[in-house]
Amino acid sequence: MANEKHSAPLDPATGLVAAVRAWFDDRAPGMGVAYKKHMSEYFAPKNFNVWYYFGSLALLVLVNQIVTGIFLTMHFKPSAAEAFASVEYIMRDVEWGWLIRYMHSTGASLFFIVVYLHMFRGLMYGSYQKPRELVWILGMVIYLVLMAEAFMGYVLPWGQMSFWGAKVIISLFGAIPVIGNGLTEWIMGDYLPGDATLNRFFALHVIALPLVLLLLVVLHLGALHEVGSNNPDGVDIKKGPKGNRWSKDAPADGIPFHPYYTVKDLFGVGFFLLIAAFIIFFTPEFGGWFLEHDNFTEANRLVTPEHIKPVWYFTPYYAMLRVVPDKLGGVLVMFGAIVLLFFVPWLDRAKVRSFRYRGWISKTALAVFAISFVWLGKIGAGPGTDPVETQIGRVLTFLYFAFFITMPLWTKIDKTKPVPERVKLHD
Ligand code: HEM
Repeated sequence: MANEKHSAPLDPATGLVAAVRAWFDDRAPGMGVAYKKHMSEYFAPKNFNVWYYFGSLALLVLVNQIVTGIFLTMHFKPSAAEAFASVEYIMRDVEWGWLIRYMHSTGASLFFIVVYLHMFRGLMYGSYQKPRELVWILGMVIYLVLMAEAFMGYVLPWGQMSFWGAKVIISLFGAIPVIGNGLTEWIMGDYLPGDATLNRFFALHVIALPLVLLLLVVLHLGALHEVGSNNPDGVDIKKGPKGNRWSKDAPADGIPFHPYYTVKDLFGVGFFLLIAAFIIFFTPEFGGWFLEHDNFTEANRLVTPEHIKPVWYFTPYYAMLRVVPDKLGGVLVMFGAIVLLFFVPWLDRAKVRSFRYRGWISKTALAVFAISFVWLGKIGAGPGTDPVETQIGRVLTFLYFAFFITMPLWTKIDKTKPVPERVKLHD
C-alpha cells in the first residue's frame, strides 16, 4: 500500500513539467513530435569524436553573431559620413560596447575556423557521400552565403581596408566581358564604394543574409536528420543490427542525441568559450589577423593602403587570384576553386566512406590539399611582391585543383582496408 502512494509524482517540478508538456501536446502536438525526432529520439552513432563538436559550435557562433549584431545595430550609423565615428563611439562610450564589438569581430573569425574544421571533417569521413549529398550541398551554399555575409560586414566600419577591400573585390566583376563594368556600378550603386554601397551592404548584412543563413541551417539539419549522421568509421548504423535500450527499432549503435550529445556538446562549448574569451579579452585584433591594422584608419579614397588584402579566411582564394597573371583568368580560378567543392560527392568514387579505411594515396592527397589551402592562405595574406612566393603559389593552386580533378581516378585505384561491420569505439 505504501508503495502505491509513492507511484504518484513525488517531485512537484516533474509534475509541473509533465503538465506543461501535456498542455502543449493538446494544442500543438507537432512540437513534441519534432522534439523527439530531432533530440530525444534522434539516434546518433555512438562513436562521435572531437571532430563532431564543430557543427554545434557553428550554431553557437551563429547565435552569438546575431545577438551581438542586434546590439551593434542599435548604435551603428550606416552612412559613409558617420559609420567610422559610430564604431569608435561604440568602442569608447557605449556601455560594454567594446565587448559587444569584439565578440562580433572575433566571432566572425571563429565562425570560419569552426566551419573550415567542420568541412574538413566532412572530407575526412566521406560525409558527403550518398545519401548525404544534399547535406553537403546545403553546407556549401551556407559557406557561400557566409562569405558574402562576412565580406559585407567588413565594409561597414568604413575603415581603409573596408573601402579598399570593397573596391578591389567588387571591381573583380569588371573582368566579366560585356556586362562587367555595368555590373560593378550596379553592385556599388556608384563609381566607387560610397554611401549607397554602405547602405545596401548594411541591409543585406543585418537582415537579408542572416535570414537566409538561418533558413539554410534549418534545411541543412533537416536533411541530415532524414538520413542520419555519418561517423568517423563511415559505417552506416542504420544498416546494422536494430534495437537498443531505448527503442527496439533504433540502430543498435545509435544513442539518443539528447541527453548524450547535448551534454557532450556542452563540454565542447565550455572549451570553445574559454578560447574565445581569451582572444576577446587579451588579443581581439589577433595580431592584425582578425581586425586589420589599416581598418583603424577611416576610409579615404585618395590614400591607398600599402597592401590591400582581405581577412585571413579569404586569403587562400585571394592568393589564387593574384598568382594568375590574367585578371579574368584569376577571377575564374578563384571562383572555380569554390565551385569544385560542390562536386565532391560525385568526384569521389571510393567504395568506403571514411579515410580511416582508405589507402596511402587518398591520405596523401587529402594532406597535400589541406597543406596547399593553408599555405595559399599565408601567401594571400602577404604583400604578393616576392616572385618566388608567386611561383610557389602557382604550384599550390595547381595542387589544389589537381586534388579535385584527379579525384575520380585516385579514389578508384587506391587500395582500401576492410571496413568493420559495426562502428568501433576504440582503435
Ligand atoms: C553556419 C554554418 C553551419 C552550421 C551551423 C552547421 C551545422 C551542422 C550541425 C549542427 C551538424 C550536425 C553535427 C555535426 O555533424 O557536427 C552538421 C553536419 C554536417 N555539416 Fe554542417 N553546418 C554548417 C556549415 C557546413 C558547411 C559549410 C558544410 C560543408 C560544405 C557542412 C557540411 C556538413 C556535413 C557533411 C554534415 C554531416 C556530417 C556527418 O554526419 O558526418 N556544414 N552541420
